[in-house]
Amino acid sequence: MLICRTVAECRAAVAGFRQAGDTVGLVPTMGYLHDGHLSLVAAAKARTDRVVVTIFVNPTQFGEAADLDAYPRDEARDIALLQAAGVDLVLIPEVAEVYPQGDETIVETTRLANMLHGKVRPGHFRGVTTVVARLFNFVGPDIACFGEKDYQQLQVIRKMTRDLAFPIEIVGCPTVREADGLAMSSRNVRLTPEDRAAAVVLNKALTLAEDATRAGTTVEALRDLIAGTIAAEPRATLRGLDVVHAGDLAEVSGPVTETTAIMLSVEFGGILLIDQREVTP
Ligand code: PAF
Repeated sequence: MLICRTVAECRAAVAGFRQAGDTVGLVPTMGYLHDGHLSLVAAAKARTDRVVVTIFVNPTQFGEAADLDAYPRDEARDIALLQAAGVDLVLIPEVAEVYPQGDETIVETTRLANMLHGKVRPGHFRGVTTVVARLFNFVGPDIACFGEKDYQQLQVIRKMTRDLAFPIEIVGCPTVREADGLAMSSRNVRLTPEDRAAAVVLNKALTLAEDATRAGTTVEALRDLIAGTIAAEPRATLRGLDVVHAGDLAEVSGPVTETTAIMLSVEFGGILLIDQREVTP
């Protein structure tokens, strides 16, 4: 596995893959890898000849410096995991490599980025699209894989890719869960043992909502069911609950008659966890 620290090294290596006639898949990450990330690597490997992973804790998508500083990092472990997973190249750039001094260009999906979770975390999705556009330019992949857990992020990246005509297929991959149903996330290690146990309430609420949708329900009843389930867990504080049209994230109301996305953010002792589910009647 090649380890590149600069864009120039990465471009030269990818040019070599291309010369050999190989297709290239990209998995952008912020490191501290878990099985969810490795499932994205597996999805890329199944679709392309060469897999590139980026590890970059992107400062522009964090609201507070404290959250950025607290983000867990373990480069040696990440490299070992990627090597074992059969990745061809890992790009681990410094901040100045991604954001060269004096840079002033941002990329933003103006509607999608500023609704729903974008309201709770102003500027977050602008940071995501700005870095992902740069990573796309550094690597020039045929496909890029992202988790469905970050549902709004996936829609934002799909829109940016379409609007800017990146010749890249965006592959959405299913959420990977712990044995008790908690969606895997690098943030989970920051939970106290009590909060970690309580955090199963996200999956519980979404599963109840899925069952209710299958039985026939309304958007309003779904919202009450989820909010009530979260409220019954004293360690949990509901921060965001959106029931929207799958794909364009438009608001919906009344009887649930087509596939609907539920996006949930819940705080445990200062740690914000998110989860999502597409539910179909
Ligand atoms: O999902 C993530 O880990 C990040 O938002 C991403 C896509 C790597 C951009 O920094």
